[in-house]
Amino acid sequence: MPAAAAATVAATPFAHESEAEFARILDFYGISWLYEPRSFPLRWEGEQLAEAFTPDFFLPDLNLYIELTTIRQKLATEKNRKVRLLRQLYPEVNIRLLNKKDYLRLLAKYGYGPPEAAKLPDIDRVLITTGQIERRVGELGAQIARDYSGQAPLLVGVLKGVLCFMADLLRHISLPVSVDFMAISSFEGEAGEVVKILKDLDQPVADQHVLLVEDIVDTGMTLNRVLEHLWSLRPASLKVCALLDKRARRLVDVPLDYIGFEIPDEFVVGYGLDYHQRYRNLPFIAVLKHELLS
Ligand code: IMP
Repeated sequence: MPAAAAATVAATPFAHESEAEFARILDFYGISWLYEPRSFPLRWEGEQLAEAFTPDFFLPDLNLYIELTTIRQKLATEKNRKVRLLRQLYPEVNIRLLNKKDYLRLLAKYGYGPPEAAKLPDIDRVLITTGQIERRVGELGAQIARDYSGQAPLLVGVLKGVLCFMADLLRHISLPVSVDFMAISSFEGEAGEVVKILKDLDQPVADQHVLLVEDIVDTGMTLNRVLEHLWSLRPASLKVCALLDKRARRLVDVPLDYIGFEIPDEFVVGYGLDYHQRYRNLPFIAVLKHELLS
């Protein structure tokens, strides 16, 4: 939760501003952290502890200790010596010595998005990381390939939000699939929300096994209308695969056969989803700052 994370940063007596900044970046990516949770004895003189080392952070999700370095060479050399000693004495401990550039690169390597992502002013926090998306989309593709084994399903996407999800999902389905897209617009009419079809499918749907691929299901109105349309074209079967399910806001009960992630009632962007046509190119799914929507 963002409020709790912010309170944790505020309540932690960091020794340096660079540590507080690192903690804020970890919060942005939703990576849990502990500040100086453990001291490792490094040298004893008789019964007396002569030297110990306390890494700045421990990241439980990555099972990783982090020591942030400064640019002052003398301190960096001393830290290097201690980290080397720690590795010798505790080979099971995973520790990295990082400067600022390194840590943004390290987070990118762990699948948390590109190094510059943490500087986006309109984004509150990352909800689903690049790595989590990749894993889940792979699982969905494998499950769909198993379920449709021996068939050649037609994947149907509704533009434009589905573009990243469709492109990735498709490559994880090891079947002879075909793909088609619809474009719609929705607006408030006198009798509630009206969904208008701007571009219909190019391929015949009758007797095909159709899998409707959706970016996000919110109230369910759009999906309901699209499903009505697709059923009217008499497919052999019709199922739905939605990347995101914002179930708390559902008004129409639509069946979802495959779900990537259930998400809370937040406005999200990235991985194809936009806010006024922006942020579709973020490689993760992030929560937009609440003040932009009020
Ligand atoms: P529904 O008809 O309320 O289920 O809305 C579905 C459509 O609304 C999606 O296809 C999106 O285009 C848009 N939408 C709903 N929630 C979000 C969001 O959190 N971010 C971006 N677009 C959204």
